Amino acid sequence: MTTGRPHGSGGGTGHPAEHELEDMSQEQLARLASELDDVEVVHNTRKFPVPGTRAEKRAERTVATWFILSALSGLAFIVAFIAWPHEYVSPFEPGHTLYSLYTPVIGFTFGFAVLALGIAVISYVKKFFPDEVSVQQRHDGPSDEVARKTVVAQLVQAGKDTTIGRRSMIKRSAGAAAGLFGIGLGIAAIAPLVRNPWKGGDQAALWVTPWRPVNGETVYLRTDTGVLGEIARIRPEDMAPGSMQTVFPFRESERGDKEALLHAQRASDTPVMLIRLRPGTQVVKRPGQEDFNYGDYYAFSKICTHLGCPTSLYQAQDNRILCPCHQSQFLATEYAKPIFGPATRPLPQLPITVNDEGYFVARSDFIEAVGPAFWERRP
Ligand code: FES
Repeated sequence: MTTGRPHGSGGGTGHPAEHELEDMSQEQLARLASELDDVEVVHNTRKFPVPGTRAEKRAERTVATWFILSALSGLAFIVAFIAWPHEYVSPFEPGHTLYSLYTPVIGFTFGFAVLALGIAVISYVKKFFPDEVSVQQRHDGPSDEVARKTVVAQLVQAGKDTTIGRRSMIKRSAGAAAGLFGIGLGIAAIAPLVRNPWKGGDQAALWVTPWRPVNGETVYLRTDTGVLGEIARIRPEDMAPGSMQTVFPFRESERGDKEALLHAQRASDTPVMLIRLRPGTQVVKRPGQEDFNYGDYYAFSKICTHLGCPTSLYQAQDNRILCPCHQSQFLATEYAKPIFGPATRPLPQLPITVNDEGYFVARSDFIEAVGPAFWERRP
């Protein structure tokens, strides 16, 4: 209800002089704050008017238990985050089960720490905050000096009313829960900065992909047949004009090596779209990359340069490559440059040719970084 009075004028309560203000106790200041705000306390009952009863102690233990559970879960999260084996282990190697539990473990411990902390705070409010019904008139304009000063006292008094001051068990367990939770958050925030993605210089993971030839070994283009270990290399005659297929790198030295084959298919920077344009299609090539294609066949990274989704859709009618995530479109006939949507860079093109056996092979790795932009990207 709006009274039309300026804020802080009070329901008949005048502002005390400064020296009167200094002499007032906290309770008096809190009461004055209520009066100045036109707050009428209709009903106020403490949950435990007699301190030290068994019911009060039981309630205190319940709240503290949730805080302790939150603290233990926060501690478990920190330990798991730091010590649980998180390096990739393939399904064929010992240690895979532990590795595969890494995400569930840190997810559960973190989630339970938040849940228990929330339950602890809610149960403290429900069990110890006094039952109070107050009615306040609405005011216009900003609060005056006295109101600003007394509201602090009012908040302190409210804290006192919750009896938190004499509940050391709850204070200690809450401090432990909040502290460990905060430390866990801090570690989670800082941890990604500890690992150096540039370790390795020019051979760092951000600069090279599994398409890079090692020791002069030929890197073939192969499709995924769905059967691990079945190698389907591609010849030009395998593709009809106006078609596209996803290809991955393959080296003869990987034949029979399930882990290497799996890695070549799962690494985030390996999927490539091999596109066969229709004969006679007009093409604009990127300066310096005029010989990256083989006839009508063009190979572009499938990783969207916006945020890294797979740009899996090739529309043969107008030669557009579409990213389903945020609708970026790239023109296959113009070095996959973006023509619509949030992506700003062309999809990197893989230099390809056909070898003496008649199979598509990569002539080199990509000459630019694959995927979304990142700091320190080279042109
Ligand atoms: S990730 Fe492709 S448009 Fe955003």
